[in-house]
Amino acid sequence: MNRKIITFGTFDVFHVGHLNLLERARALGDSLVVGISTDELNLTKKDRAPVFPEQERARLVASLRCVDQVFFEESLAYKREYIERNGASVLVMGDDWKGKFDDLRDACDVVYLPRTPSISTTATIERIRG
Ligand code: CTP
Repeated sequence: MNRKIITFGTFDVFHVGHLNLLERARALGDSLVVGISTDELNLTKKDRAPVFPEQERARLVASLRCVDQVFFEESLAYKREYIERNGASVLVMGDDWKGKFDDLRDACDVVYLPRTPSISTTATIERIRG
């Protein structure tokens, strides 16, 4: 059986915490599809525009060996539709989202993976700003 994994994120200023998450997600199944937050969704979700525009973030993530497919996530409210449309069996999220998607357990398995410590897009931007 083809066990398809789905995950979501902004993946702005791509860092090793992102890579760890995507590689561990892929290892849970046979293929990995990633929903990339649009620039517009990011503005509402994180209250700032991403450093890199959505097309560039999507190209970077799509180029990874562990990623089979990407699409744009336009609203946080459409998770169920994205899961069904992609035929995903497992939703993987970082544990910063722990418990937030448990209502989707009737559609697929939901797994929260521990975040890589001490790295984030926000911290990286702050570091570069100095
Ligand atoms: N992630 C992770 N470990 C980190 C940072 C992110 O596992 N150190 C995971 C998140 O839990 C999420 C995915 O990577 O499942 C995409 O996260 P994203 O929000 O794009 O990255 P952050 O670095 O958390 O961004 P920000 O600082 O803007 O919140």
